[in-house]
Amino acid sequence: MRTLTRPRPAPWSVSRRATGPTIRELGPGEAGPLAQVFAGMSDTSRRLRYLVGTPRLTASMIRLLTDVGHARHRAWVAEVDGEAVGIVRYARPSADAAEAEVAVEVVDGYHGRGVGRALVAVAREAALAAGITALVWTARPENQAVRRLLGGQGASVRVVDGLVEGVTPLLPLAA
Ligand SMILES: CC(C)(COP(=O)(O)OP(=O)(O)OC[C@H]1O[C@@H](n2cnc3c(N)ncnc32)[C@H](O)[C@@H]1OP(=O)(O)O)[C@@H](O)C(=O)NCCC(=O)NCCS
Repeated sequence: MRTLTRPRPAPWSVSRRATGPTIRELGPGEAGPLAQVFAGMSDTSRRLRYLVGTPRLTASMIRLLTDVGHARHRAWVAEVDGEAVGIVRYARPSADAAEAEVAVEVVDGYHGRGVGRALVAVAREAALAAGITALVWTARPENQAVRRLLGGQGASVRVVDGLVEGVTPLLPLAA
């Protein structure tokens, strides 16, 4: 049988050829990018991000995760052609706390392409400027990627209740 038309590239391969992601701060109540990134994550990635199986984002999770844009909780989104491909955030118990929890997620189709590293760099710089001196993170033990990404120089790591808890001191990036 002859094929008269050439197969069209998958939509994701088109966007992969486009320019790299742009990173901007997520606005308060902006749920669209959150939903786009969640939709692009496999069950395994969702489990790694939220530490337990998470088939959907509940209304209260969405409220919590989009309550951003203030000193306690800020988030940034990486976008390619207007589509969200990753989010990083830090959250701290009070507006002047020295330690903040950090969490990052990237859609599966963009793993291993430097998006997570770029997002974490933006969050780090903002955290430093805001007087934060250490980033705290929690990961499942099998999550090698996040240990590599967040477990920087001087990081201390311990296992609590089967989860890895890391504290990474924030030092200005070398010029
Ligand atoms: C963790 C995650 C955000 C990394 O994003 P990413 O865009 O794939 O990461 P990058 O391409 O920027 O790579 C960052 C580092 O991790 C390493 N890495 C990436 N994937 C890896 C893997 N599967 N195994 C081991 N190392 C890995 C890279 O080599 C790189 O290290 P280097 O810069 O020292 O070479 C992504 O894998 C993800 O979304 N995972 C599911 C959610 C999750 O685990 N979130 C963390 C909860 S806090």
